[in-house]
Amino acid sequence: MKKKISSILVGLIALSVINGCGGNGGNGGNGPSEESNIPYLKSNHNNYSKLTSEANPAPIKNETALSLSWSIKSKTETDAIKLYDHINFMVNTLENGGNPQPWDKLFLLEAFMKIAKRYTTEINRVDNINVLVTKTATDRCAYKVISAHSDVVSGDFFGQGVTSNDHSSTAEEIINSTDCSASKIDLETYITANQKTRGQ
Ligand code: HEM
Repeated sequence: MKKKISSILVGLIALSVINGCGGNGGNGGNGPSEESNIPYLKSNHNNYSKLTSEANPAPIKNETALSLSWSIKSKTETDAIKLYDHINFMVNTLENGGNPQPWDKLFLLEAFMKIAKRYTTEINRVDNINVLVTKTATDRCAYKVISAHSDVVSGDFFGQGVTSNDHSSTAEEIINSTDCSASKIDLETYITANQKTRGQ
């Protein structure tokens, strides 16, 4: 079993190193790429709200089901398409071993959990301007990671249009949590192999 886990981990690290394409939004460390739509989302973050009010978008969390869901209303169809394409772009980047925002340990944990198939992301666009997202984890450790990431998306990204905060201390708390004790070594090994300094 130990031999199997370490061979999976070696595979994970090799894959992410080969694909280091995901640096900083899929642009190899040269800042967020246009196709990630991050620049658009940052400058238009106020164009998004909850479905039923003008309040800032926030996930509905179901800890028992290890899942969280978003219902996001956009001001225009273009806003909805940009957001939808962004999430799709990031799902593909992670599934291909990319590590967006590689200086932030929380994003590295999200990348690890995606490539280890410990959470899924479902996205739908309905009525042109509404984007629905459901993320479901396979275990409490992975749920902690997607939950913390969703708080960053709501508070920093939608709330302030800020993408430069470092959430590595939150990631450290998750790594050292009881729920992640069985994954601690793998998570730390992945971070050691993939973390970069800002702008690297
Ligand atoms: C450097 C900036 C950013 C990076 C590196 C980034 C990266 C990511 C990643 C890795 C995911 C998860 C994809 C998956 O589940 O497989 C994601 C999802 C998402 N992003 Fe971004 N993103 C950035 C900026 C933004 C901004 C500015 C917004 C909106 C204003 C935004 C809105 C979302 C939403 C709504 C989701 C899906 C919900 C969730 O993951 O909980 N992102 N992004």
